[in-house]
Amino acid sequence: MTAPIRENLSGLDLRAEIERLRKERNAVILAHYYQKPEIQDLADFVGDSLELSRKAAETDADVIAFCGVKFMAETAKILSPQKTVILPDMDAGCSLEDSCPPEQFKRFREQHPDHIALTYINCSAAVKALSDIIVTSSSAETIISQIPESQKIIFGPDRHLGGYLNRKFGREMLLWPGVCIVHEAFSETELLKLKAQHPDAPVAAHPECPPHIVDHADYVGSTSGILQFAKSFPGDTLIVATEPHIIHQMELALPEKTFIGAPGADGNCNCNICPYMALNTMEKLYLALRDLKPQIEMDEDLRLAARKSLDRMLDMASGTVGKGDLGRA
Ligand code: 13P
Ligand code: SF4
Repeated sequence: MTAPIRENLSGLDLRAEIERLRKERNAVILAHYYQKPEIQDLADFVGDSLELSRKAAETDADVIAFCGVKFMAETAKILSPQKTVILPDMDAGCSLEDSCPPEQFKRFREQHPDHIALTYINCSAAVKALSDIIVTSSSAETIISQIPESQKIIFGPDRHLGGYLNRKFGREMLLWPGVCIVHEAFSETELLKLKAQHPDAPVAAHPECPPHIVDHADYVGSTSGILQFAKSFPGDTLIVATEPHIIHQMELALPEKTFIGAPGADGNCNCNICPYMALNTMEKLYLALRDLKPQIEMDEDLRLAARKSLDRMLDMASGTVGKGDLGRA
């Protein structure tokens, strides 16, 4: 359980304090597009999972303050072990990671010894260590197209991303049955109502969405891919089927356009906000920078084992920022 903040921080100018500590600690603040706007606004870099991994690997800061979820901060530690990696709230997990316990994944692999494991980055370090190649939603297409068609593949833990890749590439990857609780919550009925109200608005969807949402999308891609689509589509209104905090970057870049988050089941719920990402707050970021905790720590053997599959991704995906995405033609 997330520990409540016991100190009274109400008199503090949190933004100024974070700026001060960032300099004092020689820290870099990395944030995912699903973070609250105030955190995105003060981050040194905002990006998707692949871009954030690359930034974590190349930074010369002493401290990485990772405003995202735990598997992302763990990835930073795997790639930059000499750095102090802090995550404002250590309970910031991910339903995909939770769906894939390492011992069950190991058994699944053992049942299919002629398959390689292509694994979505949304998983624990232990599952990365059991995998051959990691992918993110922005590198999956480039990577899968480098794997011979005759090679049998296990894909986990996101069955919707895996299913999307199977359909797009005519593959028959065996799918682990995990889902993202956030993207699973979008309602087809409500999306169709919204499309009827905005008949000229295209739909951009993340491939973690189930097929009944992706099938209505004009563009399917990672968060950075969706952001690029938002910057280039010719109309004035876009329906966005991913976690709605990304709309902040769209509104900053294109204040004259309208971005509408795709609805959940009752048309008006908050179920499409990632509850894990939302655990990070300005208060917790301030405390993490001040106290250098919570910190990501990792057994060195586990780190080295997990690093192999991540390095394969970085090698195979090189040059894919902004292209090689899952964008629908
Ligand atoms: P991206 O790699 O597209 O940023 O996705 C990360 C994620 O967790 C989406 O739910
Ligand atoms: Fe995990 Fe879904 Fe949250 Fe992304 S949006 S971190 S996949 S629970």
